[in-house]
Amino acid sequence: PPPLLLKNKKLLITAGPTREALDPVRYISNHSSGKMGFALAQAAARAGAEVTLIAGPVNLPTPAGCRRLDVESAQQMLDSVLENIAPCDIFIATAAVADYRASIIADNKIKKSDTELTLTFVKNPDILKTVASLESAPFTVGFAAESQNLAEYAKGKLVNKKLDMIAANDITQPGLGFNSDHNALQVFWNSGERSLGPATKTELADALIALVATQYNNKTSN
Ligand code: PMT
Repeated sequence: PPPLLLKNKKLLITAGPTREALDPVRYISNHSSGKMGFALAQAAARAGAEVTLIAGPVNLPTPAGCRRLDVESAQQMLDSVLENIAPCDIFIATAAVADYRASIIADNKIKKSDTELTLTFVKNPDILKTVASLESAPFTVGFAAESQNLAEYAKGKLVNKKLDMIAANDITQPGLGFNSDHNALQVFWNSGERSLGPATKTELADALIALVATQYNNKTSN
């Protein structure tokens, strides 16, 4: 069995996409399958943690030993995160949260017409930034999905969102990232960085959880 690196620690992890309704039958979303976040939840549970997994709409079984809460929209994910964050030691934001939602969700199905359809979007709350700014913020780990300038953009998010750690993936790499069983991560924290993979999401999750445990222990023992 793996070492119990997170014994007695409480983790909250978000995973999957969010789904933003346009009308009663349509929505906008993205290609996140939830596999990376579910693998992390499973790895954290194997490392002895008490895990709550907040999942957007995905087709995956609940990892053994994890408490799972299903949500759809970014706003619902934020509400669920804030309801469950209080006793947590570590928060990992793996979800691909929609940055925007429709400014109006139509009550009835939007009718087809002969002209263009224009939709207006408003910004969604940033769940990760909200958690990192809490007065008693847990050890906070973000993800960054980048298609260019990976290190620069990821380090920018680490600083701007006041994170303890960020795991960046290059989403232009074929066969890695969204909806695949494999990924590669560039992990950054204030005093260091590490490349993980390419490897299966299961292997990466074990490696990232070990890194999180080390940096969490460094931070809390100081
Ligand atoms: O689910 P899979 O198919 O396995 O794919 C895994 C993945 C590619 C989705 C995953 O590895 C990943 O990169 N997740 C983050 C995707 C993302 O939305 O990245 P971002 O750079 O747009 O967001 C940065 C961070 O802020 C993320 O931790 C995100 O969870 C968080 N965020 C973003 C917007 C928002 N409104 N609220 C947030 O909390």
